[in-house]
Amino acid sequence: MARCLFYCCIIVILVDEITGQGNCGSWGISSSSAVTTYLGSETGRAYISTYQVFCTGTVSAWGFYARAYGTIYLQIWRYNGTTSYYTLIGQNQITITAGTSYQEQDTIIPVPPDMRISAKSSDYIGWMTSDSEMITFGTGSNVYYISASPAIGSTLSFTSSASRMYAVKAYMDNSE
Ligand SMILES: *[C@@H]1O[C@H](CO)[C@@H](O)[C@H](O)[C@H]1NC(C)=O
Repeated sequence: MARCLFYCCIIVILVDEITGQGNCGSWGISSSSAVTTYLGSETGRAYISTYQVFCTGTVSAWGFYARAYGTIYLQIWRYNGTTSYYTLIGQNQITITAGTSYQEQDTIIPVPPDMRISAKSSDYIGWMTSDSEMITFGTGSNVYYISASPAIGSTLSFTSSASRMYAVKAYMDNSE
């Protein structure tokens, strides 16, 4: 019995390492038809969504719904206590090239353990694309944006907003 419990445990941990889908909830929206209507034509924007992670742990996977190839940085931002100011805590670079089966579906990309961002409960999900937009959106909610390529640790004032609800989601893990 004890041996069985031991091996079962190992298997569960291995599966989590492979899929990256954590035990501390998923935050945001990536699969609803409400967020897949439009693709923006803007370039070089960093966004902060109203999606918050209510888990203190690491981001073990990202989910999103893409409609274009390119490179995107999926990010965690932290409100610094002054209206409109947020600090970039970390980011994961994801490149989607032609020939991959990502397109027009809810894609979940696991983050290797040594690259996972440490987030705190109530941090915000954001992203940045230096080229054209990749992630779809629908109307509703709000995003704040700035034309910038922020460095990790930098604090920026996000004052522009749009009524857009993007297809992006963070899977969190706090089992370590
Ligand atoms: C937030 O960051 C801005 C810009 O660096 C700074 O002026 C402000 O004092 C910070 N707010 C707090 C509460 O630390």
